[in-house]
Formats: sequence, structure tokens, C-alpha cells
Amino acid sequence: MKIVVVNGSPRRTKNTATLLEKAIEGAREKGAEIERINLYEHDFNGCKSCFSCKLAGLGNNRICVIKDDAKPLLEKCLQADALLFGTPIYYDNITGVMRSFLERLWYPIDSNKFTEDRKPIRYIDRTIPVGFIYTMNCPEDWRENLYGYLFRSMQNRMTDFFGHYEAVYSCDTYQFDDYSKYYSNMFNAEKKAEHREKQLPIDLENAYQLGKNLATFGK
Ligand SMILES: Cc1cc2nc3c(=O)[nH]c(=O)nc-3n(C[C@H](O)[C@H](O)[C@H](O)COP(=O)(O)O)c2cc1C
Repeated sequence: MKIVVVNGSPRRTKNTATLLEKAIEGAREKGAEIERINLYEHDFNGCKSCFSCKLAGLGNNRICVIKDDAKPLLEKCLQADALLFGTPIYYDNITGVMRSFLERLWYPIDSNKFTEDRKPIRYIDRTIPVGFIYTMNCPEDWRENLYGYLFRSMQNRMTDFFGHYEAVYSCDTYQFDDYSKYYSNMFNAEKKAEHREKQLPIDLENAYQLGKNLATFGK
């Protein structure tokens, strides 16, 4: 069981990376082999709308034709037994690099065709279970209101394309190591610390379980 882990955060040791590492620990405990990708280390853009991947007669398991840093990474993802993505929320969305990467991953397997009962037909002939970890500043009780659509749309798309999806949400994260060094009246440092102490172990446990679930999917 090989799991490709894609980090869409620029910070390699902070919230998103920490939760991804915990999920990796869970997956490894169940015997999974891990390959990590840090998207910010690579140079690529999103889909260029060239439609090369949409040509008739190419069959299943298509891949983006653009030859840049993303191409070998996309290949790894499409060969994996499971995929785990992690991203912070930036201005109400996944990070730009994660978005660009997913456009390139999704579009070649998106046939633009539906069955008679409106189920999407995909150009991929197997299920690849997907896990997704989101970290964000907003408090948990704002999450549905602010980002319900974003998270549901990701769930629907991933399920349509890859057949299985589960997510972990980590809210009200620590943005700065030392809040006294920065000015903002958006945060109360004491409340943040209290929340972190209570919630972080729960979020880490959820990430750990997600890793285990991915590694044992279908077993
Ligand atoms: C440019 C930028 C934009 C952000 N926008 C949002 C936002 O719209 N909503 C939110 O809840 N958090 C927002 N955040 C906070 C991050 O999502 C949050 O701190 C996250 O846990 C950071 O992940 P990291 O530690 O892996 O970098 C933003 C942070 C940055 C740097």
C-alpha cells in the first residue's frame, strides 16, 4: 500500500504539516509506504485548457500532457494506492498551488460525460481513496457557515473522481509561534493557547485515524 502525501502549505513544520505527519504515523503503523510531495518546492501552473487530455480515443487513465514540475508528481498520484492532501485555508479557499495541482490532476480524468442517471463518467478504472486535511484560523462554529460549500464541493468532486473521500478539519489554529510579536486585534492570544491545548490532541488523533483508514481501505 503506497500513499502519496501532498502538502499544499508553504510552512513545512506548522499546522498542516504537523497533522499530515500524524496521519503518516497512523498509515505507517498499518504498514503503508509513504511518499511526500511539498507543492511549494515545485514550479508549475494550473490547467492551461489545451484539451489534449480530452482527445477522443485516448481511453482511460489519462494524465496532463504539460511537461513541467507537476508532471512526475501527477504520475505518482495516479499510481498511488491512496492519496492524502493537506492545505491551509487562504482567503476562503485551498492554497493557490493546491488548486493548480488539483486542476491538473482532475481534468484529464474528467470525461465531461454523464450516465443516464447523471453520474459522472471518469477516465480512471479504479478507486483511489482520498484523505484531506484542512487547517484554518476560523473557529469551529463558523466553519460550516464560511466554508460549507467549499468543503462539500471538494468532497463531491473527490468522491466522483476517486471513489472514496474523508476529511479532517482543524480550526482556530496557531498562526504565529509568539503572538506577542505581532499586532492583530483579530486574535486573543490567551484564548488561542487554551483552545490549542484542548483541541490539538483531538485534531492529531483524527489525523492519525485518517492515516490508518487510508492504509486499511478495502481490507
Ligand atoms: C495568506 C493567508 C490567508 C489566510 N486566509 C484565511 C482564511 O480565509 N480563513 C481562515 O480561517 N484562515 C486563514 N488563514 C490562516 C491559515 O489558514 C491558518 O493559520 C493555517 O492553519 C496555516 O497553516 P500552516 O500552519 O500549515 O501554514 C490565512 C493565512 C494566510 C497566510
